Amino acid sequence: MTFWFNSDRERGRIFAEAFARDLPDLPFIMDATQVDPDDISYVLTWTAPPDLDRFKNLEIVFSIGAGVDQFRVENLPSGVKLVRMIEDGIVRMMQEYVTLAVLALHRNLKAYLMQQTEGKWQALPARQAADRRIGVLGLGMLGQAVIARLKPFGFPLSGWSRAPRQIDGVRCHHGAESLASFLGETDILVCLLPLTEETRGILDARLFAALPPGASLIHVGRGAQLDHDALIDALDMHQLSGAVIDVTEPEPLPPEHPFWRHPRIMLTPHIASVTQPGTAARSVIENIKRHRAGLDPIGLVDRTRGY
Ligand code: GLV
Repeated sequence: MTFWFNSDRERGRIFAEAFARDLPDLPFIMDATQVDPDDISYVLTWTAPPDLDRFKNLEIVFSIGAGVDQFRVENLPSGVKLVRMIEDGIVRMMQEYVTLAVLALHRNLKAYLMQQTEGKWQALPARQAADRRIGVLGLGMLGQAVIARLKPFGFPLSGWSRAPRQIDGVRCHHGAESLASFLGETDILVCLLPLTEETRGILDARLFAALPPGASLIHVGRGAQLDHDALIDALDMHQLSGAVIDVTEPEPLPPEHPFWRHPRIMLTPHIASVTQPGTAARSVIENIKRHRAGLDPIGLVDRTRGY
């Protein structure tokens, strides 16, 4: 039995220390050529290595990221479990980023930064938090954590998910038939959906038209969920007033892409939330212990759902 860390050495060193301390009986390697492929039971990786079939005794593939769309779970051998990364560092960073983005949109930060470059001193109309409705698309672990962090500001909060959810103080909607009514009462839309065949391209012209005029978008899901032309049109026609975009397809965008210089887009290079090795190692170690005790790992991907 061996654990193969298939990612950068810097984070690998922190993982190696945690494994040596908390799972000393499990050999930890960063280079799979060092061992017989039959020895490898677990791999932590961003995406499936092309020769995964070589590892006949592989039991679990741990994603180093929260998203698992890059794996194509249907191509993994059927006996192998795929596990999403669920760890405190990712959660905390996503809470920070979405709070930053909500407040930036709520308080017109981009417009004020542009006014500064023009030497312009001018107050813009301000809305109270109680009059700015936040809607979160996707109520999984990250969606719920973000909502919890936003609560003290006093924004009315709602959320939409595929399956029904109940969250204290949050208007929860579910299913395709309730998407339009959820959007109709959302002034700042946060996309935290996983990428699946159902959510590919979901942020399109129809969805933007269902938002109240002047609404804005925070996109921290996956790039392929967003129709870029539809976003530019919605902004240019003032259906949307602003967007904070952290994920795009492709990444990075080509230099001439309009998102780079659009006056109402804030663009960041997929940094909203990044796996933190200290807390991630703890979560992977806990999951290996659960697996050894015959329990399902936390974050186990449901192959039929795709996340
Ligand atoms: C980053 O996008 C992740 O999936 O963790």
